[in-house]
Amino acid sequence: MSQILQNFIKQAQYNPLHSLEEWEEDLLNRYPDPHSIVKEGKTTQEYRNYETPTRETVKEFYRLNHINQTYNFVLEKEKNFLKFDKKEMSVWDAVEFLNQLVDDSDPDTEMDQLQHLLQTSEAIRADGHPDWMVLTGFFHDMGKVLCLFGEPQWATVGDTYPVGCAFSDKIVFSEFFQENPDYNNPNYNTKYGIYEPNCGLINVHISWGHDEYFYQMMKNYLPEPALYMLRYHSFYPQHRENAYKHLMDNHDREMFKWVKLFNPYDLYSKNPTPPDWQKLRPYYEDLVAKYLPATLKF
Ligand SMILES: [Fe+2]
Ligand SMILES: [Fe+2]
Repeated sequence: MSQILQNFIKQAQYNPLHSLEEWEEDLLNRYPDPHSIVKEGKTTQEYRNYETPTRETVKEFYRLNHINQTYNFVLEKEKNFLKFDKKEMSVWDAVEFLNQLVDDSDPDTEMDQLQHLLQTSEAIRADGHPDWMVLTGFFHDMGKVLCLFGEPQWATVGDTYPVGCAFSDKIVFSEFFQENPDYNNPNYNTKYGIYEPNCGLINVHISWGHDEYFYQMMKNYLPEPALYMLRYHSFYPQHRENAYKHLMDNHDREMFKWVKLFNPYDLYSKNPTPPDWQKLRPYYEDLVAKYLPATLKF
């Protein structure tokens, strides 16, 4: 086999998705927009029956995610990336940097990262929510720059879940966890693992990805509900499936109302008419300047 072909296969195994959006499209299959279902006159159950089977690329992505996200892996990534010594950029440099994540799946229907961020934030703004929530919408996926630092897709996006305790069978494709080394480790494979009942999520390590990374970067700048939205927006096993309530405390339960409020803006704000960035830019420049310093350490 030629070196080029070998490299190609290695790369395909490492990053099976054509783009990071493939995971988000799969989320839409799993959690279809209740409004569009009503319009089509279907129940959620019926809608699910019509869904196409998960693409092989997405399945492989989940497999890699589930076998590799161990407790030790997460601690290592936290140690490495939460030093924030990779790059110093203004928010605007970061947006441009993020937009290098070009899509090679379908150039007609896919939008770039900035469009997804803007559509989320504009939908939040249109509903009259506070400006820090608009900013959160605008930022929520900024942590995907991890991919540009060479991190694999399965350590950048995907549903997130606690590590250090048993993996819930409510997690998508949970059968793949059987190949995760923690699955057979008695320290980590019980209901509570290393944690105490209702210890609060602040004490829980969550699988590594763009959520935790960007939350940590923002934690001194935004109000707490915004931080919960950033940190747990991909934690579908809890905010949609309620599978980890035994680790949450009363404060988490209160704050998850915000995470749930945020989720439909992330999933269902795709708009065929893209927001006009040139027109919106001054508003967002003021908003960023109100809450954040001139540059951020990534
Ligand atoms: Fe996200
Ligand atoms: Fe998103």
